[in-house]
Amino acid sequence: MNKELKLNNNKKMPILGFGTWQSNQGIVGKAVEDAIISGYRHVDCAKAYLNEKEIGDSISNLISNDKVKRNELFVTGKLWNADHDPRNVVKTCKESLLDLKLDYLDLYLMHWGLSFDPDPGADQLDKNGIIKLEQVSIQETWKAMELLVNDGLVKSIGVSNFTSPMIIDLLSYCKITPVINQIEIHPYNTQQELVGFCHKKDIQVTAYSPLGGTGNANKSPLMENVVGKIAKKYKKTPAQILIRWNIERGISVIPKTTNSKRIKENIDVFDFFLDKDEVERMNNLNKNYRFVDPINFWGIPYFN
Ligand code: A2P
Repeated sequence: MNKELKLNNNKKMPILGFGTWQSNQGIVGKAVEDAIISGYRHVDCAKAYLNEKEIGDSISNLISNDKVKRNELFVTGKLWNADHDPRNVVKTCKESLLDLKLDYLDLYLMHWGLSFDPDPGADQLDKNGIIKLEQVSIQETWKAMELLVNDGLVKSIGVSNFTSPMIIDLLSYCKITPVINQIEIHPYNTQQELVGFCHKKDIQVTAYSPLGGTGNANKSPLMENVVGKIAKKYKKTPAQILIRWNIERGISVIPKTTNSKRIKENIDVFDFFLDKDEVERMNNLNKNYRFVDPINFWGIPYFN
């Protein structure tokens, strides 16, 4: 069974990763340790998650205790929106490396195609309720990210939350093609066209919030009948079915949990397959519903 995706630079990425967004300080370190001991080899991090130091402690302890080798791990970091100025890119990447106690990242993503004012004063939002932005283009930032690869600080670069037009524009000037677009994917937001477009352009896709995220338990795709029925058939849990559905679609997937039982549950997805009809029935749950939409917190209709 294929547990890795091949990237367009011929490097490989484990298809299943461990998500760390909304895993709080105080518990994230133990969760990452459990995950790596349980067999996860791909850890998805970001400066904006405010937990990289603790993750770095766990990873470095495991490496120094010979529980895992650095080259067996695939660690992702992300450039935050307030750090898009090309003069800041090396500095902020090095800060993440320092926190994570690594001398390189396997993958560094532009977290959003938005450049925030790095020094917004007391208010993040302007008087019209829109996040304060800075005049830096994605092109300038991407060029600075390409230098990180040349300098050996990161092995691969990619994007997150990019739409098709943003990718098309990026492809018109990039010297290094993004290897990944990390986007919100679950059965309520299947993103079929964008995934298909990325794959045709040899850009792999990673699904974040694959279980429906942390906020909306009463709206979760985990509760869907279709998912429950398929879970029963395979003697698996709804979470395992949502994870496997991504893998069947050739999409990398990074479920988040800090619960040690669920950490093991979420990686136990390589001993069964969903058939085409089951994947299709889950695709049919799509309603283009996003749990993460900047219109709700930055006042930007980013996906419209
Ligand atoms: P917890 O961390 O308490 O386990 P996503 O990966 O879509 O962001 O979803 C993460 C949410 O799903 C978290 O609230 C997490 O809670 C929960 N979760 C993670 N794994 C499972 C699982 N196997 N079954 C049910 N809920 C899960």
